[in-house]
Amino acid sequence: MFNSNHEQELSKRRTVAIISHPDAGKTTITEKMLLFGKVIRTSGIVKGRGNKKYAKSDWMDIEKKRGISVTTSVMQFKYKNILINLLDTPGHQDFSEDTYRILTAVDCCLVVIDAAKGVEERTKKLIDVTRMHNTPIITFINKLDRDSQDPIDILDDIEKQLELNCVPVTWPIGCGKNFKGVYHIRENLIDLYQKQLYHNEHLLNTQSFYDLSNKLLDQIIGVELANHIREELDLVINIYPKFNNKKFLKGFLTPVLFGSALGNFGIDHVLTSLIKWGPSPLSRKSFTRNVSPKEKQFTGFVFKIQANMDLKHRDRIAFIRIVSGQYTKGMKLRHVRIKKNIIISDAFSFLAGDRLLIEKAYPGDVIGLHNHGTIKIGDTFTEGEDIKFVGIPSFAPEIFRQIYLINPLKQKQLIKGLIQLSEEGAIQVFRPINNNNLILGAIGILQFDVVIERLKVEYHIETTCIKANVVLARWIKSKNICSINSFKQNNSAYLAYDAS
Ligand code: G4P
Repeated sequence: MFNSNHEQELSKRRTVAIISHPDAGKTTITEKMLLFGKVIRTSGIVKGRGNKKYAKSDWMDIEKKRGISVTTSVMQFKYKNILINLLDTPGHQDFSEDTYRILTAVDCCLVVIDAAKGVEERTKKLIDVTRMHNTPIITFINKLDRDSQDPIDILDDIEKQLELNCVPVTWPIGCGKNFKGVYHIRENLIDLYQKQLYHNEHLLNTQSFYDLSNKLLDQIIGVELANHIREELDLVINIYPKFNNKKFLKGFLTPVLFGSALGNFGIDHVLTSLIKWGPSPLSRKSFTRNVSPKEKQFTGFVFKIQANMDLKHRDRIAFIRIVSGQYTKGMKLRHVRIKKNIIISDAFSFLAGDRLLIEKAYPGDVIGLHNHGTIKIGDTFTEGEDIKFVGIPSFAPEIFRQIYLINPLKQKQLIKGLIQLSEEGAIQVFRPINNNNLILGAIGILQFDVVIERLKVEYHIETTCIKANVVLARWIKSKNICSINSFKQNNSAYLAYDAS
């Protein structure tokens, strides 16, 4: 095991993803968190629609045009001396594979639920994925400044649909036009909401006072609402269980907080909960053993590859989640799959599109490496040990398109572009053994639009896609080379090479 400085670095880190159904407010919350982290100074930088400013986390052209988030970026910021690695996940369901892989790289999830809509379909699916890894979950019920469902109904919905026991940490006082603030149950503190016109660096949109029985509450929100909220809280405190760290860490129980991301209200409670209860970097399972973050030797796995993050440099980046040891600039690492040692002197950390060369990084951190086509999703880097981490999913495509060049002379660039984009894992490329067609396979239909757009912007190739006569793709395997050859001969019209 390592020294106490290493343990201190671990205790200062949280690696988290925000997940939600599209439009629940994930981007708005990300933005407010970055405001708290002093990474940005004005709202609107993280996301704007139409001609407004664009998201730090939404930097691709297609994302700007459609106002959706299709790629994942990593943001690092400090809150109360704790370093938070926030992994942004694509909001659109067509990009679920990327999201699933991101969830293998985090230790905790923040689930955002729209208070008017309750649990929505995509939230349910994402929670099912977090369950595969028993990821601890903190829940934020957003948009209380709009007319909302009854908070007890929302909690019932979470308990039923997400199978999570709820522990309310804060409780809303009114909603919509009558949203007055929240009562912090554990601290016996009332935070009042003031509608804020300018969402800038005014971080704390609150006026607070202690004790639910405080007469100030009657003066400010009226005796009737004050009494109603006291009665409701009497019930709430009695019916919901107390926070239990073990159950939380196993993903059985979720602390629930209420607020308005747009009004920058309640985000500080979420951050405080995250640094208080969110686990510091956790162990990861490999095929041979459990790897603890406290171990001295560096290990890490690639959970994402992204081509052309910086168009000026036209490079491909591999995102590595550090599992154990530490990264120091200039260290020698073993690329386990290709059995090669490489000196790494230019790993960097991220702020969406921006990068920063780093000297050191610890478990829980995500570092970027330049990928010259040798790194794949799921690859492991170590200081020598041959291990492979489990649980990084790969997906069989479900929809297929044939891609055509508008200018047929650009075939070489097309193949290069497609190979690079397929390394990211969002699209698969198949080359039929009988002809020169190129078939693309994906899980979501929007991925084809993204490929066409990216080929245009990043590789200057105009393409179009039409439906391909393919329903599914499966690998053909046999230990016997002769039977493979005869199978190939008899079924050549149905066979294609993929990237593996
Ligand atoms: P997402 O990333 O989960 O898809 O959601 P996003 O943050 O983009 O929020 C979706 C819409 O909901 C946005 O409005 C956003 O302003 C609004 N919103 C987010 N949080 C709150 C909240 O606490 N209260 C209220 N009233 N609205 C909230 P939009 O009109 O689609 O976009 P914009 O023009 O405001 O950017």
